[in-house]
Formats: sequence, structure tokens, C-alpha cells
Amino acid sequence: MLFQQSKMASMGEMIGNIAHQWRQPLMELSSIFMLIQSRIEYEGKISNTELLKQIGKSEEITSYMSQTIEDFRNFFAKEKKKEEYRLSKQISLSVSMVNNSLKQNNIKLEILLHKNPKHYGYKNEYAQVLINILNNARDALLLKNIENPKITLAVDKIDNFSILTVEDNAGGITIKPIEKVFEPFFTLDKKDGTGIGLFMSKLIVENNMNGKLLVENGKYGAKFIIKIPLY
Ligand SMILES: Nc1ncnc2c1ncn2[C@@H]1O[C@H](COP(=O)(O)OP(=O)(O)O)[C@@H](O)[C@H]1O
Ligand SMILES: [Mg+2]
Repeated sequence: MLFQQSKMASMGEMIGNIAHQWRQPLMELSSIFMLIQSRIEYEGKISNTELLKQIGKSEEITSYMSQTIEDFRNFFAKEKKKEEYRLSKQISLSVSMVNNSLKQNNIKLEILLHKNPKHYGYKNEYAQVLINILNNARDALLLKNIENPKITLAVDKIDNFSILTVEDNAGGITIKPIEKVFEPFFTLDKKDGTGIGLFMSKLIVENNMNGKLLVENGKYGAKFIIKIPLY
């Protein structure tokens, strides 16, 4: 039941991400319609050239929108087989799903790819964990109203592990012991927090990838560490 609930909750978060991805293009579409409407209302007509130009723009926007849906659909399709993937690829995928909502909130994202290790496994699961962590960092930055909000993502390979860290400058986690954030249903101060994201992420990393999902408070904020053994 818990697992089912986890899935529903992470779907909910994803839908939130889609909503963000769509807000901007929807506004652009609506401004194109307004332009066409005002031409007709105030000038009595619109030229064929102008109309075709605006239709062209609209087609670009709608194709972008359908691409985002396609990305999300692939993302949620059950992965059939394990495969080799580069971390950079799953990082780009995760970032492409959250970056509109980061941009809208003026959150800077810095990515430091010191190494680009290869994993073997279900690649979307890794992206899913990363999205949860990035969404949480965004939530914390917004909740605390941080002045120059920033997230730093770094990747390295140390001994035989891939190490990915995500650190923000939202001031850190106050709850003690800090590991409580991984408990199911633990959520703090959020309007629609479910407390499922980190629980599910830890489950994925530790049960399916044989790795570790760790948290600590860094100098400026929370720091999450994903450590996966390489083969
Ligand atoms: N980067 C962060 N900075 C501060 N607190 C965090 C951060 N990430 C997670 N948390 C805390 O951990 C809690 C649990 O996170 P999560 O399991 O994703 O559930 P939810 O996001 O639904 O609250 C959050 O409510 C928040 O209090
Ligand atoms: Mg969360």
C-alpha cells in the first residue's frame, strides 16, 4: 500500500512539473491569439502573411508542448531492461523537467561534472531520485524566501563509487536527527507536502541500486549525496 501511495505521490509531483513546463508556452499561445484578435478588431483584417507567420509560431509552441508530454510519458513507462547509462544523460533529463520551475523562481543551477561515470541499471529511476531532490531544494529556497537562491549539483567518481551531490543555500534541515527526512510521511511546513519523495528515493537508491542516499547540512544549506557502487 505504501509503495502504491509513493507512486501516486510522485506522479502528483510530476504533474506539478508538467504544469510548470506548460505555463510559459500557454501564455505565448494566448498572446498570439490576442494579437490576431486585435488586428481583426481594430484594423478590420489580418494579412495572410501575418496570419501564416502566427500559425507557424503556434505550431512550434504546440510541438514543444507535445514533446514535454512525450518526455514525461517515456519517463513513467515501466522500464523493461537494465542498461548502461552515463550520469550526464540522466542529469540532463532531470534538469529538463525541473528547469522551467527553477527559472520562473530565479533559482540558479550550477552543474559541475568532474567525472561522468557509467551506471548499469534502470536509468529513469536515477533521474526520478534526482528530480525529487531538486524539487525539494526548490521548495526550501522558496519557503525561506532566500535572496540569491542557488543549487549546486556536482558529480565525481571516487574509489569505485559515483558520487553525486546536490547542495542548496536554503539554510539546511533543522529536524533532529536529520535522517528523519527519509521517513515516510515526514513533511515540514509545505502546503502540499506528502513526505513521500525522500522515502521513495532512499528506497530506490538503497534497494535497487545497492547505493546510499545520505544527507547532511553543508555550509549554506542541505546537501544530499547519492553514492552508487560502479562495476
Ligand atoms: N533541501 C532541503 N532543505 C531543507 N529541508 C529539506 C530539503 N529537502 C528536504 N527537506 C525536508 O524534508 C522533508 C521531506 O521531503 P520529501 O520526502 O520530499 O517530502 P515533501 O517534499 O513532500 O515534504 C521536507 O518536507 C523538508 O522539510
Ligand atoms: Mg519532496
